This record gives sequence, C-alpha cells and structure tokens, in this order.
Amino acid sequence: MKIAVIGTGYVGLVTGVSLAEIGHHVRCVDVDVRKIEQLRTGKVTIWEPGLEELMVKNMAKGRLYFTTDYEVALEQAQVIYIAVGTPESEDGSANTQFVEQAAKQIATMIRDDVVVVMKSTVPVGTNDRIYQLLQENLKHNVRVDVASNPEFLREGSAIEDAFRGDRIVVGANNLKAFEMLEEVNKPFGIPIFKTDIRSAEMIKYASNAFLATKISFINEIANICERVGANVDLVAQGMGMDKRIGHPFLKAGIGYGGSCFPKDTKALIQLAGNVAYDFKLLEGVVKVNQERQTILVERLLERFHSIEGKQITVLGLSFKPNTDDMREATSIIITESLIQLGAHVVCYDPVAMDNAKGILNTEITFASNMIEALGNSDAALILTEWDEFKEVDVQVFKQMKSPIVFDGRNCYAPEVMAEMQIEYYSIGRPNIPITIVK
Ligand code: UDX
Repeated sequence: MKIAVIGTGYVGLVTGVSLAEIGHHVRCVDVDVRKIEQLRTGKVTIWEPGLEELMVKNMAKGRLYFTTDYEVALEQAQVIYIAVGTPESEDGSANTQFVEQAAKQIATMIRDDVVVVMKSTVPVGTNDRIYQLLQENLKHNVRVDVASNPEFLREGSAIEDAFRGDRIVVGANNLKAFEMLEEVNKPFGIPIFKTDIRSAEMIKYASNAFLATKISFINEIANICERVGANVDLVAQGMGMDKRIGHPFLKAGIGYGGSCFPKDTKALIQLAGNVAYDFKLLEGVVKVNQERQTILVERLLERFHSIEGKQITVLGLSFKPNTDDMREATSIIITESLIQLGAHVVCYDPVAMDNAKGILNTEITFASNMIEALGNSDAALILTEWDEFKEVDVQVFKQMKSPIVFDGRNCYAPEVMAEMQIEYYSIGRPNIPITIVK
C-alpha cells in the first residue's frame, strides 16, 4: 500500500520504517529541513537500537523516502499517518496545534480517498474534531475517514515493540477504515483490537497512567520497606508472580521520566478535570513521582550534611537505559540541585552526553568514561541502570576519594558492596553498615 507519515520524530520515524519493512511504500514528511537531509543520507536522528539498519535497508529497496514537500508525500497515499508532537501546555493539557495544522495540510492537498490515522497521543475527542476539520477544509470531492491508532512503543526497544507488540489498537467508526488498517497491519501478525475512536484514544492514556501508577506504587512500597527492614526487590518479585499483578513496571527507583509518562499522566488529570472529574489516584501518582526525583539528594545531605565544595559523580543521564533521550530525565533536576548546593558535578553517560550538554547546567564537567568520572569524587550517584554500570567490576568505586555510592536503580548487591568496603545506599533495601578504611 502507499502510505504517508507526517512527522519524523520518534514515533513517526519508527512507524515509517516498520511499515516499509513489512512491504509498504512509505513517504515520510517533516518541516524540519535539517532532519530530512540527515535521514536522506541514511543517518537516524535518534539513538534507537536496530532502527538505522532497517531504515537504510528499506531506503535501498525504494520503499522508504523522506521529503519536506507535503505534495510529494501525500500524492497517491491511501493511508496517511499523523505522528507529530502533542507537547504539554502550561496547564498540563496536550497541545494539539501541530495535529490540527497537519490535518489542514492534508485536507487541502489530497485528490484521492484516504484514511487518516492518528498516531500522536491526543485527548479524547480530538479525532472527532480532526474529522470535522478535514471535512471543512477539503478542496476536492474525496472521501476521508479517520482512525485512532495509538502507539505503545518503548524507547530503546521500539523496533522490538513495533514487530512484537502485545496489541494494535484501532479505533474507527466505519468498516472501510477498519478494513484498510487491517490490511496495513496484517503482516505484523499482532492481534488487532478494534474499537470506537474515543475508547481507542482513552486506551492510550489509561495504559500509560496505569503503568505510571505501578511505578509510583512500588516506590511508595520501597519507602515503607526501608522503614521496616524489608527488601523491595524481593517484595516486587513475590508480588509479580501473581499473574494478576505481573512482574513488569515494579522496579523501584528514582521515579519515571521520559516523553510519555510525565506528559500523559498530567494530560489525563486535565482531561478528567475538563469533565468535572477529580482523578485523585492519578494526582497521587504524579505527586509521589515528583517527590521521588530528589530522594538521592536528600540522602546525600543526610550523609554529608553539606555538599558544598564536594565533588559528586553522576552516572547515567538519560531517562532510562538504551536511549539518548533526556526528556524529563531525573538527572536534570538532580544535577541542578547538586550545583545549587555548591557541589562540583562530574557526569558520565554511555550515549546521552551530547544531548545532555545542551540541557544541563554549564558548570557540570563531562567525563569521557566511568573511571575518569569517579576519580577524586566524594560520592557517586547512579541515575540510569545502563548495562555498562551494572556489569562493571565494583572495584572501580574504590578509586574514589571516598567510595560512597548512592544507587537510584539498585544495580548492585548490598552484600557485595559491603564485602568490597564500599559504603552503599540503594532503594528500598536494608543498608549493610560498613566502616570505610580510607
Ligand atoms: C512509555 C510506555 O512504556 C510506552 O508504551 C509508551 O508508548 C511511551 O511511554 P518509554 O517512555 O519509552 O515508554 O519508557 P518506559 O520503559 O515505559 O519507562 C518510563 C520510565 O519509567 C523510565 O524513566 C523508567 O526508568 C521508569 N520505570 C519503568 C521505573 O522506574 N520502574 C519500572 O519498573 C519501569
């Protein structure tokens, strides 16, 4: 089939590449000239395992094409995906202006019948509005249908998720749209859940809000574990064995970040508020997460009283491993607090440092590896559970001025750290007291 994808951000690019991989002819369009130029040279604009190989392969096969020209992209398209950003507005609601602009462009340009598919995360009711907008702005006598098809891709495993996701949700109000999307998605071999448009829009928000709730829940349990001498990792393991609960998203840590959870939870609270509903549970989830983000700084202050003039190493900057994405990363808040408290901050991340340099405080020093980052420091904070940190010989911490580690992601066994004479604080697990020799 001939498909156009509007927006080559995270979702648009992965969608375009995966649709080309299953045999469709895909044209991706973006207003960002530099981005399109880069993609045309076969270089991806985001760090995502497996994406570049698939992109280059499908470009070479002539199934994937990038352009800044809407006319070229939309020409003869049977299905048009909208995958532009819906950033958070000041009041927490999702800003749909880019989605609306895309719809207007489509309406003025199409000359054949199409199905417009919404990939962007939009508040419930947006697709109905987009349908109206399309009808009002049509320049030719063609039929336009609208479908909601939310994405559930995780950064770092987006390719895996695109080909092996649990479900594809399609919301539509007519047979033709369902049939077209069934035909498009069939080669993925993933179950398709067909529903009405508003329910499909809601599934996306409800899913992300539920996952965020699991995280805040286990983080609260971690706080209690610390007070009663239980181990949150073992508690989560035992809970997860119950199929009704499940293991995923029960990892206690320093809270959730990224481009989806913080934005979508606030948007759902706002959406509920618009229909006079107070979503108390989700408000609690968001509050718990906000408090969570500074927990390591509080622990550092409990330990040192003042960190003025101290050198603190921060390991891991991206909001989670296997991505260079810094959006809503806890490292932003933590490094800023450390600087405000007078510390000298040395950071290291395996892939996110280039992105971080434009975002984090300019007083921060960036080290080129873990060893360099740790040398001469008074304490180390682990914010992202990269394999490089988890698999390191913990001896590496012994070269610090004082081997004191605050681990926000439970990367190491407390017994091992105690044996190595490393003072170690983790999340929701009993501390094993040691006497520092140095
Ligand atoms: C998420 C959803 O998983 C995906 O379905 C949606 O489409 C987009 O948002 P993503 O933002 O890529 O994906 O990251 P995810 O792996 O879900 O993690 C989000 C945050 O939660 C990270 O900061 C992570 O560190 C944190 N997290 C996750 C935990 O603290 N504990 C967990 O058990 C799981």
